[in-house]
Amino acid sequence: MRIEVFAMERMQSTWENIVDYDMSESGVRPLTLRELGEMGFDLEAFLDEPLGYSQSNGTIPLREQLTAIYPGATVDQIEVTNGTSEANYLIALSQVEPGDIVAMQVPNYMQMWGVARSLGADVRTFRLRTEASWEPDWDEFERAVTPETRLLYLSNPNNPTGSVLSDASMRRIADRCERTGTWLLSDEVYLGAEITAPRTKSFWGMSDRVIVTSGLSKAYGIPGVRIGWLVGPAPLVADCWSQHDYITIGPNKMSDRIARVAVEAKNRERCYARTGDILRHNLPIAREWAGSFGGRLAWTEPTAGAIGLMKYAADAPSLTIADRVRQNQSTLIVPGVHVGIEGHLRIWLGGKEEFLREGLRRIGTELTALFD
Ligand SMILES: Cc1ncc(COP(=O)(O)O)c(C=O)c1O
Repeated sequence: MRIEVFAMERMQSTWENIVDYDMSESGVRPLTLRELGEMGFDLEAFLDEPLGYSQSNGTIPLREQLTAIYPGATVDQIEVTNGTSEANYLIALSQVEPGDIVAMQVPNYMQMWGVARSLGADVRTFRLRTEASWEPDWDEFERAVTPETRLLYLSNPNNPTGSVLSDASMRRIADRCERTGTWLLSDEVYLGAEITAPRTKSFWGMSDRVIVTSGLSKAYGIPGVRIGWLVGPAPLVADCWSQHDYITIGPNKMSDRIARVAVEAKNRERCYARTGDILRHNLPIAREWAGSFGGRLAWTEPTAGAIGLMKYAADAPSLTIADRVRQNQSTLIVPGVHVGIEGHLRIWLGGKEEFLREGLRRIGTELTALFD
């Protein structure tokens, strides 16, 4: 199976550990094992656990805890995976066939773009409109989601805009998918990372066609344990489990145990609160910095997620600017072209204050040279 390069992930995996300032991230600065210990993870007890295989679709205790987040879901409707990305992949592998149509919002995390095309699907996109506070372009949406469309992928809250769909938009999307018989895959890995918005509503329960993916990487701030999950109708979840058997078999035992601590209601809220606090502290710093370019750097501020998507007033391609920032300032940012929106840059907002300020200063040096 041929697959095209996942441009953003490849750029990040090539450079993120080499540059001085990685400003390309999208979650908040991660928690440590010590902090998870304070939340109840018993490392001392775990030291004596034989490191055997874990339950490949997630231990029953973990899946039981996850059912509490998704009302009405049972343990056979949940599959625990190695990150949200594996959950998305399993869904595509088990549902998408050559010749299918797969719809997705853009801008977006472009994983599904590459995966669906590698499986022989035709990907149809619909825009989130800059000029309409990132509401979907409904004409494009209706052209993309038709009875021929197998799967619709969206991220809500969205990467990279940090926007959240309104209740009315969610209803409209769910109704359309029900009418067309399309799977509605809602990637909710940023749910809980709200900055100013109220808690994002899940698509879960809005229709029988809904599948939700999520994980610990963003709103929880624990990407290194690589735990994600998918929730959907039991037969679909069983199909995903079959795919899982062939790929990674299952997540690792220590991560499953850590996840049981993280998703406990009080700890989940603690993680979300930490994320919100970091972002509410950092947002005004980024706002002031963006404002210092006299209107040449414009953005609709994110309402959720550790990402600022900024539109720059210059003709240069976003990749050229990102390359310059990396080469001249040892600072990594995401060019808009890697998330489906040219003319923009995606900048990380989730670091410590000193880190954020210095990262922005370095990016600013290159932007000033570009605008002059
Ligand atoms: C929308 C979205 N889904 C999934 C992922 C990958 O998540 P994970 O680390 O849980 O595999 C990302 C990472 O940036 C993302 O933005």
